Amino acid sequence: MTAVTAEEATQGAADGAAADAARAEAFDAAVAADDRIEPRDWMPDAYRASLVRQMAQHAHSEIIGMQPEANWISRAPSLRRKAILMAKVQDEAGHGLYLYSAAETLGTSREELLDKLHAGRQRYSSIFNYPTLTWADVGAIGWLVDGAAITNQVPLCRCSYGPYARAMVRICKEESFHQRQGYELLLALSRGTPAQHEMAQDAVNRWWWPSLMMFGPPDDASAHSAQSMAWKIKRHSNDELRRRFVDICVPQAEALGLTLPDPDIRWNEELGQHDYGAIDWTEFQEVLKGNGPCNEERLAQRRRAHEEGAWVRDAAAAYADRHAERPGTSGAAAEPVEATA
Ligand SMILES: [Fe+2]
Ligand SMILES: [Fe+2]
Repeated sequence: MTAVTAEEATQGAADGAAADAARAEAFDAAVAADDRIEPRDWMPDAYRASLVRQMAQHAHSEIIGMQPEANWISRAPSLRRKAILMAKVQDEAGHGLYLYSAAETLGTSREELLDKLHAGRQRYSSIFNYPTLTWADVGAIGWLVDGAAITNQVPLCRCSYGPYARAMVRICKEESFHQRQGYELLLALSRGTPAQHEMAQDAVNRWWWPSLMMFGPPDDASAHSAQSMAWKIKRHSNDELRRRFVDICVPQAEALGLTLPDPDIRWNEELGQHDYGAIDWTEFQEVLKGNGPCNEERLAQRRRAHEEGAWVRDAAAAYADRHAERPGTSGAAAEPVEATA
């Protein structure tokens, strides 16, 4: 081993800086060329941090989102509806797992992300802090909440980070099924008795505005938007996606025989899109701050599910250990299994 002279150290630092610049240039070129960034590729720290924040929030939303609908599984009006709803809620658990796995490729463990969720240090979508008061809410969530999620997520299939983009392809296919089941459920209610029709209308009235808020704050108030778009994590602005969603919903509401609770929705000839009324951003901020109708309940239930699932994780870890010890057996299920409620 030879000692490094001061001169050599300076030269080494200069080489390091040149290598960093070359890596940054290669990253920028890959993003500009619409190539995918893969886990082993060099990426700026801020890009990695931004992806972890977004993917964690997305994964958390999938598993917290199971709660409002799971609330209706035991009260679904028929065996068919129960089977559909159970399949849907299970899909959401699966979406959470794909996304936690995709986030792990960035060097963050699922355990760490769940700890942050349980400690209230990472967010999930505010929409899940609203209660599901009637059976029609299951339809309104499928039609509007899953519908808004698809509008947001289809462009993520082309996101610059490979594992996230690939996870989104499968998720979006399942979300389309969710949206259709919600629409079909609302259609059955809307064409049912006057009381059923009224129940469907009431659910749409309550879920419409929170669904529009799912696209996030207006473009001029959105903290992360510009950078995410430059990195091609995000492909369209919040307001663009929101307006696209309104355009999709207007004819569907008409076909359902239901009214969207916004008298200001009208066709804008110049834009070739719909205008819509003012959103109450104070409500959005309040729910975000933790003051929504179900914030505490959702987090408490999530923590409880995690604690009650401890035995599953322990059993999976013990099983994996035993198999790792035995020669000739591959260590199956090396990862502890997260039980979801
Ligand atoms: Fe989902
Ligand atoms: Fe869904």
